[in-house]
Amino acid sequence: MMSLKEAEKWAMKAPGFLSKPEGILLYRLARECSGNGEIVEIGSWKGRSTIWLAKGSKDGQRKKIVAIDPHTSSPEMPQGNSFKEFKQNLKAAKAFDLVKPVVKTSEDAAKEFGKEIALIFIDGDHSYKHAKQDFELWFPKVREQGIMAFHDTMLVDGPKRVVEDSVFKSRHFRNIGFVDSITFAEKVEKNSVRERIANRHVLLLKNFFTTVSKANIRFGMPKQVKAVGKKFIKKMQ
Ligand SMILES: C[S@@+](CC[C@H](N)C(=O)[O-])C[C@H]1O[C@@H](n2cnc3c(N)ncnc32)[C@H](O)[C@@H]1O
Repeated sequence: MMSLKEAEKWAMKAPGFLSKPEGILLYRLARECSGNGEIVEIGSWKGRSTIWLAKGSKDGQRKKIVAIDPHTSSPEMPQGNSFKEFKQNLKAAKAFDLVKPVVKTSEDAAKEFGKEIALIFIDGDHSYKHAKQDFELWFPKVREQGIMAFHDTMLVDGPKRVVEDSVFKSRHFRNIGFVDSITFAEKVEKNSVRERIANRHVLLLKNFFTTVSKANIRFGMPKQVKAVGKKFIKKMQ
């Protein structure tokens, strides 16, 4: 696909923390996103993840990316307002035409957002309180067979606890996978016993890789790159 290389070139030029495998996952999720529903991103910062999503969507159904971020300085991102750079990076990547920026907090944006969601990527405030709130605000808006993806679910306490409690142990998700620190899953009305067992199995793997990667950090070894949920990912290739 033409835009995958393009996406990589421009996304990796934008400052950010998303790894290349995580970006490729977002690109593929957006490219395969079809049917009813919007693509939403919580926490865009300077646009790295937004570029991956927009480029994927461009190679797919050309759905707009609703990119929600107040772009004000926060304890996590104290470098000041990021909106100007966000726009510049998206325009340089020729991806701004598929992006609808919403310069608001997740809480304020959710109050006004009345549509169905087909794909949501959550990478906003990582405190447990806010990560949990983001899940509770946006989960009801995601349609069945829609995808929820969460960044920093390996080592960061807030998103990690939220996915463990509300995704892996939930009756409403199946096909859970992870790529580096992103956990993603398909929403369903009610998962089967077999799917619940599979979800617990993936959680065990995720915890195992988290322990390995923590040990690697301690011993100064390179960070592991792990992808689980390969069957699902393969469908997207
Ligand atoms: C880690 S950065 C996002 C990085 C981005 N996804 C990327 O790949 O480069 C976190 C972002 O979340 C935003 N944020 C913080 N609190 C938020 C909230 N309540 N609602 C929406 N976004 C929020 C911050 O402004 C910041 O830009």
